[in-house]
Amino acid sequence: MKQVLSGIQPSGFLTLGNYIGAIKNYVLLQESYHCLYMMADLHAITVPQEPAALREQSESVACLYLAAGVDPEKSTIFLQSAVHAHAELGWLLTTLTYMGELERMTQFKDKSAGKESIGAGLFTYPSLMAADILLYNADLVPVGEDQKQHLELTRDLAHRFNTRFGETFTLPEGFIPQVGARIMSLDDASKKMSKSNPNPGSYIALLDSPDVIRKKISRAVTDSGREVKYDPAAKPEVSNLMSIYATLTNKSLADIEAQYEGLGYGPFKKELAEQIVAVLEPLQNRYVEIKKSGYHLDVLRKGAGQAAEKAEPMLTLVKERMGFLKL
Ligand code: AMP
Ligand code: TRP
Repeated sequence: MKQVLSGIQPSGFLTLGNYIGAIKNYVLLQESYHCLYMMADLHAITVPQEPAALREQSESVACLYLAAGVDPEKSTIFLQSAVHAHAELGWLLTTLTYMGELERMTQFKDKSAGKESIGAGLFTYPSLMAADILLYNADLVPVGEDQKQHLELTRDLAHRFNTRFGETFTLPEGFIPQVGARIMSLDDASKKMSKSNPNPGSYIALLDSPDVIRKKISRAVTDSGREVKYDPAAKPEVSNLMSIYATLTNKSLADIEAQYEGLGYGPFKKELAEQIVAVLEPLQNRYVEIKKSGYHLDVLRKGAGQAAEKAEPMLTLVKERMGFLKL
């Protein structure tokens, strides 16, 4: 059975972009594959995090996975920092990564732009991500579009290692949704929807209340026309809203166009808001229950043990191949 691995950084609350680009597929893939889903907390600290906030956000992401339907009977849910092999393989792979490769990463360029002090970890972040994936010989990595470049580097590192030290790692493939791989901001369709945007009107947080969701969708920017038509070049705002609608309802873009033909944006936006509420409200109720019960902490304890059991033999093999003296 194929192996799946993915993760989300607990660096803030999650948005509808995280849900559509990643979590929705986590739930789908666990029906057919061995899946490991982590809270990438070692990645989260590549930008400054308050210790109390990091703890809180890590718990929150775990509860959201569970509330969204990631099933700990089918998938392993764990904290990256709880499995030592990630940091260790991360270092080993950092030594095989070229500066030029890291300099080309657009996420690094975006996150470091205009900053005065940039942590070295932000730069070497992709080598750690490669370690997360290669440690479990993952075949498939469900992520949004923005992680494509990191996955390419992961494949290059796997190939480089295999060539130098002998066949060891599987070359992973991305599992990127056809529609919804890049959900855009509600106030500016040229930017990706992101939790780090200072304008809360630009994103739907997974924990936004139904009323806030309705308000944000009704205020979402659209062009001055009235045709509900999927055309990302000419109508990027409406096309983005249609992508959200399509992924949440499993309807095709053509069906949505037909459904709203001649009706204008008003009814479309209203129904879109209701579809989002229909998905998020039950998720939020489950989230509150799980958080209160402390169930997620048990899941994380068990998950760390299961992940470490898989990771350790791989790390041992890698170290042996690289020539570390075995005592
Ligand atoms: P991050 O929040 O950066 O840790 O991202 C976690 C996952 O959500 C990654 O797989 C991202 O590619 C995905 N993701 C984040 N923002 C978006 C977005 N606006 N649209 C689609 N996927 C996204
Ligand atoms: N870099 C990813 C992001 O920001 C999070 C992540 C860390 C990840 N390790 C991973 C995703 C391994 C997939 C596989 O979205």
